[in-house]
Amino acid sequence: MKILGIETSCDETSAAVLDEEFNILSSVVLSQDEVHAPFGGIVPELASRQHVRSIGYIVSETMERAQIGLLDIDILAVTQGPGLIGSLLVGLSYAKGLAYSLDIPLVAIDHLESHVYSAFIENPDIAYPILALLVSGGHTSLYSLPRSLDFCLLGKTRDDAAGEALDKIAKFLSLGYPGGPVIDRLAAQGDPKRFAFSLPQMSDGSLDFSFSGFKTAGLRLIKELQLSRDHPDFIDFLAGFESSVIKYLLHNLDRAVQAVAPVSLILCGGVARNSKLRIAFEGYADRQKLSAYIPSPSLCTDNAAMVAALAVEKLRQGLEPGLDLSINAYPRR
Ligand code: KG4
Ligand code: ZN
Repeated sequence: MKILGIETSCDETSAAVLDEEFNILSSVVLSQDEVHAPFGGIVPELASRQHVRSIGYIVSETMERAQIGLLDIDILAVTQGPGLIGSLLVGLSYAKGLAYSLDIPLVAIDHLESHVYSAFIENPDIAYPILALLVSGGHTSLYSLPRSLDFCLLGKTRDDAAGEALDKIAKFLSLGYPGGPVIDRLAAQGDPKRFAFSLPQMSDGSLDFSFSGFKTAGLRLIKELQLSRDHPDFIDFLAGFESSVIKYLLHNLDRAVQAVAPVSLILCGGVARNSKLRIAFEGYADRQKLSAYIPSPSLCTDNAAMVAALAVEKLRQGLEPGLDLSINAYPRR
């Protein structure tokens, strides 16, 4: 069986073909970073227009790389939400048209759930119960999965996402967009202990996150010290900020581990590309004697392989996809 996944929820136009064993036959991701970089963040209208320009070409390229034709596709899978509504509609409309013309089923996929199932592409036999930490530009969430596809949301951010906080600090320091990878690279040379940020505490004891306090404290320090690239404290500040974000993520992860006693941990989402977070996450899992799964970097940021992967899992669990095309996009869960 061949599943074509399509992902356009934010600023990556992506298509991928997987088989029913999670093998990637081809995967193409076109980033719009260059389009949005001059604005220091994503401009939704520009994102939709760029998807319209790219989607046809990206799907053709994906077919060519898989060395198959559209008639060889058995099932289509497309991101339905959450994300930017205009961007979602481009991918969804394209997928509906394609499914209709090929007379094949279309499976609607949740973007956040597909991030979690990105881990199954390289490790199809991850044992349940699973605890997943999803850290991206738009979301920071903890999910417990007692069994396949059974997503229990344990906590989510109440304001900014972790990636958003990194991107905003980077924007303020004119480091370009997206800022997460730049901070990752620059902070590697700094001393993370010189600037420590206090970790937010939820007064109700929930596992929710909050990153706006971090961001405000960071911005205040930048102003106070008049930090810029050539300031002697610049790199230490970045290292301290990044390390505090990681400490906070692992602090809540640990609380969730105590609460749900998983056997496997998954780290996913764009920020899971962060080199220090990957090391810290693996070290934590090791100490707890839990199995840790972190997708390869290219599968952490938005991609269509994860969309097809979640469709594969749904089919494995007995989903019988129909030909109903009355699927709507949703910007929020
Ligand atoms: O999952 P994703 O591609 O899009 C969303 O669904 O949000 O994540 C994008 C986020 C951005 O905030 C970006 O700065 C962050 O992932 N990111 C990183 C790294 N690479 C990407 N953050 C920290 N370190 C990185 N190496
Ligand atoms: Zn994402």
